[in-house]
Amino acid sequence: MDIRYFDDRTALYTAVSEHFQQAVANGATTFGLATGGTMEPLYENLRNSDVDFSTCTSFNLDEYAGIDKNSPHSYYTYMHEQLFNAKPFAASYVPVGDADDVDAEARKYEALLQANKRHIQLLGVGENGHIAFNEPGTSFDSETHVIELTPSTREANARFFSSLDEVPTHAVTMGIASILDADEIILIACGENKRQAMEALVDGNVTVEVPVSILNNHPNVVIYTDLKLPVAVK
Ligand code: F6R
Repeated sequence: MDIRYFDDRTALYTAVSEHFQQAVANGATTFGLATGGTMEPLYENLRNSDVDFSTCTSFNLDEYAGIDKNSPHSYYTYMHEQLFNAKPFAASYVPVGDADDVDAEARKYEALLQANKRHIQLLGVGENGHIAFNEPGTSFDSETHVIELTPSTREANARFFSSLDEVPTHAVTMGIASILDADEIILIACGENKRQAMEALVDGNVTVEVPVSILNNHPNVVIYTDLKLPVAVK
């Protein structure tokens, strides 16, 4: 793993957006994208850059189950506001959270992923070590599926809703195998609330109890972090 430490978040996000722009310049066309607070400064940089995604395809990691795509809380809306309205892709896919048959939607999404290997997969990490919405205990062989969110994830995401009760209980998420299928993974982890998960990652012990730890088994992972991690300061 290539761990890039920045004590300055502005410099960190400049570096990640340059990484993206360089990837496009080098011919990357298929991107796995993420949502959440971590990604907002990156998308702001990309909105304000001259990057052109108009020949590229994107696949989002996840979507809340049972949510209308036009809801202000959907990841579909988030992605349009944060990136797609300003920087459209040739095609952008976000799982349909309110599909009549959400398990069938997950299978359909997985088939799309398998037909479109991602050059770059962007990831954040949950305080509990989740990647996408693969909560602790999720099989490393998992494909896109419906998952029940843990109380801690719902609490962490309640800041985007008016109350905890409004946070959906389930999500459609790429599985861990789906994520690992990307050629390159870029993980951004900022803030002390991510320290425990990140220390478990760099510790090197791969366990389903800390889903992000599986990145130790991927050959091409770049981590952008403002956390001084044990291996980052060696
Ligand atoms: C978002 C996603 C999640 C987030 C994680 C961190 O699409 O898949 O894994 O990356 O929950 O969220 P923030 O960035 O809000 O701390």
